Amino acid sequence: MQRPVPIEKEKILDPKRYIVSKTDPKGIITYGNDYFVEISGYSEAELIGKPHNIIRHPDMPKIIFKLMWDRIKKGENIMAVVKNLAKDGSYYWVVTEFEAQMDPLTNEPVSYTAFRKAAPRKAIETMEPIYKKLIEIEKESGMEGSEAYLKGFLEEKGKTYDEFINDVVGNKGIFKIFFTAMKKLFG
Ligand SMILES: Cc1cc2nc3c(=O)[nH]c(=O)nc-3n(C[C@H](O)[C@H](O)[C@H](O)COP(=O)(O)O)c2cc1C
Repeated sequence: MQRPVPIEKEKILDPKRYIVSKTDPKGIITYGNDYFVEISGYSEAELIGKPHNIIRHPDMPKIIFKLMWDRIKKGENIMAVVKNLAKDGSYYWVVTEFEAQMDPLTNEPVSYTAFRKAAPRKAIETMEPIYKKLIEIEKESGMEGSEAYLKGFLEEKGKTYDEFINDVVGNKGIFKIFFTAMKKLFG
């Protein structure tokens, strides 16, 4: 008997709710808010203590996470449009701000936090083909290839990564207000 092929289904997020998670310096989950647990499809016990790539979607290019880690390890924030995978195989798109909490004495990260909100449809439509292209390049020539492509892409647009993402996400003001408020609560 043939098994039914699972259909990749998109979870549409509540635009009013936010998803927060925290990790230790190695990216091991130490905290997730209620919406993170609900949307991921895992129980809290299944999430805590696991590497954050538990929700990694194969459609996400490696280079985006490299960019993110390079930044937060230095204590700098970064925003990204991320496609995440839920336990049941469905996926959801979020605008995520990654942030590090640094030890003021050693200047080393002590923890990391990610704040997420539903990604605007337009941001998804812009990023999806870029991520497809980056994945294709990574299959052929690894992350060096995708890094070079991304660099060229941004140069052509005359923008830094941050400028480009701010444009893609659109209502930058709203996201800024939101992420600032979240940091006060969870940072
Ligand atoms: C605070 C924090 C939040 C993260 N959130 C996500 C996330 O929502 N989705 C994701 O795929 N990776 C997330 N990551 C990155 C993962 O740790 C990992 O680098 C990424 O999934 C790539 O996995 P890989 O190294 O196995 O390819 C997060 C990392 C940190 C520090």
